[in-house]
Amino acid sequence: MNPRIELVKADITTLNVDAIVNAANNSLMGGGGVDGAIHRAAGPELKEACRPLRGCETGSAKITPGFKLPAKFVIHAVGPVWYGGGKNEAEQLASCYRASLALAAENNCRSVAFPAISTGAYRFPFEKAAKIALEEISRFIAVNKLPEKIYLVQFSDSDMENYKRIYREFCL
Ligand code: APR
Repeated sequence: MNPRIELVKADITTLNVDAIVNAANNSLMGGGGVDGAIHRAAGPELKEACRPLRGCETGSAKITPGFKLPAKFVIHAVGPVWYGGGKNEAEQLASCYRASLALAAENNCRSVAFPAISTGAYRFPFEKAAKIALEEISRFIAVNKLPEKIYLVQFSDSDMENYKRIYREFCL
């Protein structure tokens, strides 16, 4: 296990970290799921801060302040919709994690929390997504000092148990 990676079961909007990652859509104008929760908790200023960003491509990420959230920043990452795996979805998800980590490091974030991007409404298989996340995060922190701590946030007990098993297997 890498001490810089920690699994937590939480509502990501409550975490007092430097940056939380939002599983956003291309418009960056909010939505349901964790996107909706983050916009509700941050307040209307978040949407206003996203407007001039003029959206975000799938596989990329953009950063804004966190406004009413405990987190200083929100990194809006747009994950792929799962169409069965033949449309470069794995690489697009990997790219989300890389882009988010790069933005966190560029903004001197010492701690960043990720939700399980694309595994909800976008239907990306949970186990496959978790392995991609662990692979990309491990690769990034092997050569970057920041962020010092990465939290992988699960919203349900079953996701948490699942992720713990996947992480144990990943570390073997
Ligand atoms: N804290 C942490 N994790 C959460 C929270 C929360 N408050 N709410 C939901 N999640 C988890 C879900 O359980 C899932 O594991 O976030 C993960 C991602 O699920 P979604 O929010 O549905 O995101 P995604 O699958 O990437 O779909 C994104 O949904 O909400 C819209 O605007 C969003 O169009 C975009 C799409």
